[in-house]
Amino acid sequence: MSTPAKTDQSPASRQGPLGVAAIGYAFMGKAHSNAWRNVASFFDVPAFEQKVLVGRDPEQVAEAAARYGWAEYATDWRAVIARDDIHIVDICAPGWMHAEIAIAALEAGKHVLVEKPLANTVAEAELMTAAAVKARARGIQSMIGFNYRRVPALALARELIAEGRLGTIRHVRAAYMQDWLSDAESPMTWRLRKETAGSGALGDIASHAIDQIQYLTGESVTEVTGTLRTFVSERPGPAGLEEVTVDDAAWATLGLTGGIGASVEASRMAMGQKNRLQIEVYGSKGTLLFDLENLNELNFMDASAPVREQGFRRILVNEPEHPYMDVWWPQGHIIGWEHTFTHQIRDFLTAIQDGTAPVPSFEDGLEIQRVLAAIETSANNRSTLTALSSSSAASAPSLKAGV
Ligand SMILES: NC(=O)c1ccc[n+]([C@@H]2O[C@H](COP(=O)([O-])OP(=O)(O)OC[C@H]3O[C@@H](n4cnc5c(N)ncnc54)[C@H](O)[C@@H]3O)[C@@H](O)[C@H]2O)c1
Repeated sequence: MSTPAKTDQSPASRQGPLGVAAIGYAFMGKAHSNAWRNVASFFDVPAFEQKVLVGRDPEQVAEAAARYGWAEYATDWRAVIARDDIHIVDICAPGWMHAEIAIAALEAGKHVLVEKPLANTVAEAELMTAAAVKARARGIQSMIGFNYRRVPALALARELIAEGRLGTIRHVRAAYMQDWLSDAESPMTWRLRKETAGSGALGDIASHAIDQIQYLTGESVTEVTGTLRTFVSERPGPAGLEEVTVDDAAWATLGLTGGIGASVEASRMAMGQKNRLQIEVYGSKGTLLFDLENLNELNFMDASAPVREQGFRRILVNEPEHPYMDVWWPQGHIIGWEHTFTHQIRDFLTAIQDGTAPVPSFEDGLEIQRVLAAIETSANNRSTLTALSSSSAASAPSLKAGV
């Protein structure tokens, strides 16, 4: 792994705006670029410049850079990381590149935002986390892009749970359903090869659901059972049929600290479901329901209300009192999926300015990676109950005893 020259980018030494480079210009590159472009129009953030967009195809990346508001484009991420005028590296490339780019960027003194999942393997995630811890000691920050933490309704759900409005959390149900792979003729992509994507629906979308379960409850997964299925085992590639080496759908039960049980379902072959993340949190004093297809809403059943008035209340999360909402539109003027990325950039920039460690951290990403690995291990062993390989909560109640 080649490492670019190190530069001193400690907050005290830097003058002028933060220079930003984004690597990848397709799906996430576009979503992040939109956020970089809009964030300062709404939030008070430190000065920054959209310096360079990096991709492999010079023509396409040049067009994307011009369209998305980047001053320049480049095709060699190593050369970009070595530049003194780049202070932030935003990694929107596939999972197999995360570790190499993130470690090189952190060692070169750049703040790093990386898309989820953190890496393709636990070993890579451990190396990235070690690099992040080392860099943090020098004032260099890092964050992983679990953007659904920035949905105002889910941020509100976390606040309500932390305030004890749901009482003791007993169990959580999370399902992330998509259908873009339902067609068996749909072509091979990097997302369907283990060596480039790490896993399928598991790492791609169950990772979001698992992050939400830990984020909302504030507890950690200690043990899992898992089942993985690949329904279409070959897909057309450039040189004929290619083997699909990842899962199309995943199921897991999770045991968490605090005696919480959770179920996770994820599929990219759930016909008719386009991008549906549903989360249900059940506590001793109430319940919260969320559906990404109605992301401005949170449904709250408050069991402390008189029985004759009980039922689910729809909270329209569009008031200035709600997380992130004070800068947007007048009440009831709803926001969308893309706003989560703007909130993410806002939180990242604010942390850099304040010299505080942003969340979710690489440590959080590593924890999720260990859960993903344990689910795969369980699935390979006929869904045997599997403890996490390294967990801060080794003494938590077991799934069998706690649920
Ligand atoms: N947060 C979310 O909701 C969400 C949604 C989709 C994807 N993701 C994650 O974002 C990451 C990227 O996924 P995507 O959907 O944007 O993929 P994509 O295939 O749409 O885009 C990948 C980009 O990486 C670039 N790239 C690949 N190799 C490169 C190299 N050597 N140098 C420079 N650029 C290179 C490609 O040119 C392309 O622009 C993945 O980690 C994925 O899991 C997150």
